[in-house]
Amino acid sequence: MKFFVDTAETSEIAELAEAGLVDGVTTNPSLIAKSGRDFLEVVKEICDLIDGPVSAEVTALEAPAMIAEGKKLAELADNVVVKLPLTFEGLKACQALTAANIQTNVTLCFSANQGLLAAKAGATYVSPFIGRLDDLGVDGMELIANLRTVFDNYGFDTQILAASIRSADHVQQCALIGADVATVPPSVLKDLVKHQLTDKGLEAFMSDWQKTGQSIL
Ligand code: E4P
Repeated sequence: MKFFVDTAETSEIAELAEAGLVDGVTTNPSLIAKSGRDFLEVVKEICDLIDGPVSAEVTALEAPAMIAEGKKLAELADNVVVKLPLTFEGLKACQALTAANIQTNVTLCFSANQGLLAAKAGATYVSPFIGRLDDLGVDGMELIANLRTVFDNYGFDTQILAASIRSADHVQQCALIGADVATVPPSVLKDLVKHQLTDKGLEAFMSDWQKTGQSIL
């Protein structure tokens, strides 16, 4: 499973990239607003920072304007993926941008039917939102499993980009189901490495090592 980092903070992306944990990046208008930076400038900077796909979301609501915005975003760098909302207009824009050889990420997916439509429109990625379904008392992970079944049933190439991930357990469940990608907030990505037995084991090793009085360097 590929890891994308769900942030517009370049320092966080750079730090995680040092550990080889960044296969790509996703942003959305809320994350851009949180960064307080110029949208086009920050997307360009992220694209220069990593080799993998970087999702940048259109803000228009009608297909012609979405297509124009998508083409402008795609000109920023070769690794830009144009993020489009899962609406009828978004599907039209997805079809047009795919025909223009521009990669797309159809976002705000909350049902397997919506995901099926995105795949039929030629989406490179579809982003099902786990946490926001969980927030409503609906099992978000079931959507990931259903999309996996639907895409496998019909051999769609569209990649399942699990989004709105809130915990390490979400990531593990996505990997077990077979999501192609998980886009993960930096704090959750760092949580994946943690295990109390690792900490306890390391503490014991260090204590015993000190007793030897040796040093490697
Ligand atoms: C990523 O593409 C999504 O925009 C993001 O994962 C949404 O996460 P949230 O529901 O925690 O805002």
